Amino acid sequence: MVTIRLQDEASGTFEGRVVVVTGAGSGIGRAAAVAFAAAGARVLGVGRREDALEETAAGHRRIEVHPADLRAPQAAQRAIDAAAARWGRVDVLVNNAGVTKVMPLGQTTAEGIGAVFDLNVTAPSLLARAALPHLRDSAGSIVNISSTYGHRPLPGAAHYAASKAALEQLTRSWAVELASAGVRVNALAPGPTESQALASAGLDETTIARIKAEETARIPLGRRGEPAEVAAWILRLADPASTWLTGQVLTIDGGLELA
Ligand SMILES: NC(=O)c1ccc[n+]([C@@H]2O[C@H](COP(=O)([O-])OP(=O)(O)OC[C@H]3O[C@@H](n4cnc5c(N)ncnc54)[C@H](OP(=O)(O)O)[C@@H]3O)[C@@H](O)[C@H]2O)c1
Repeated sequence: MVTIRLQDEASGTFEGRVVVVTGAGSGIGRAAAVAFAAAGARVLGVGRREDALEETAAGHRRIEVHPADLRAPQAAQRAIDAAAARWGRVDVLVNNAGVTKVMPLGQTTAEGIGAVFDLNVTAPSLLARAALPHLRDSAGSIVNISSTYGHRPLPGAAHYAASKAALEQLTRSWAVELASAGVRVNALAPGPTESQALASAGLDETTIARIKAEETARIPLGRRGEPAEVAAWILRLADPASTWLTGQVLTIDGGLELA
């Protein structure tokens, strides 16, 4: 377990700002919600499991929860409306909720593709659309959570990789499209990070242990990442002081991409 002291913790960089974090009930999203709150933001944590979101919010008076399935019609608009109704503004949208799916080509189905793309591509798009008027007003920013597999092949889970590649391309296109509105759009591409992602993909414990050992062996820094290490970079991309950064995809993966 690596303990990271977030640089922004004491400085209140996000004081007075409103941040919407999707997938805030676990892993990277939970760490991001807590880090934004520690940096002074009001945070709306979105996810399906209310109990998991409440766990994230416990002890953090700046975090409020909004349980929702982001694949449901109107869910994206309602989540953004909920933040705006509570606090009157939205400064940062973190499109973090995502799903991994093992789906070799021989077993690929339209339903399987839909499950991955609905959450990893369509939901971030509709959230961004709903947030746009607020982000224009606040000169805010969007941080999309991709993956190192958004720009590397992932045999056996090609549609996960393709969904993240789509998110990276949305990032670049929106960055240019929204630049004149003063809205910045960047993406973070984490490598293998401790979270519920592998279990949520339906893998059994033995398979998860094997995958983790293989990943650890391939990562030059010799270990998988911790959610707080990833969250720290989400804050840096969203930092209002990062005024000239837009359209970038930052990989944070212990050097995996180089190996
Ligand atoms: N961990 C890694 O190794 C890794 C590496 C690269 C990229 N990423 C990306 O990082 C992001 C966060 O993943 P994580 O690793 O922190 O995994 P995680 O612990 O599984 O978190 C995913 C979150 O998304 C939420 N979610 C899932 N389906 C949803 C839906 N239909 N509507 C609303 N929320 C939903 C989940 O909460 P509920 O189940 O309560 O809805 C959960 O809190 C994902 O986009 C993932 O692709 C992860």
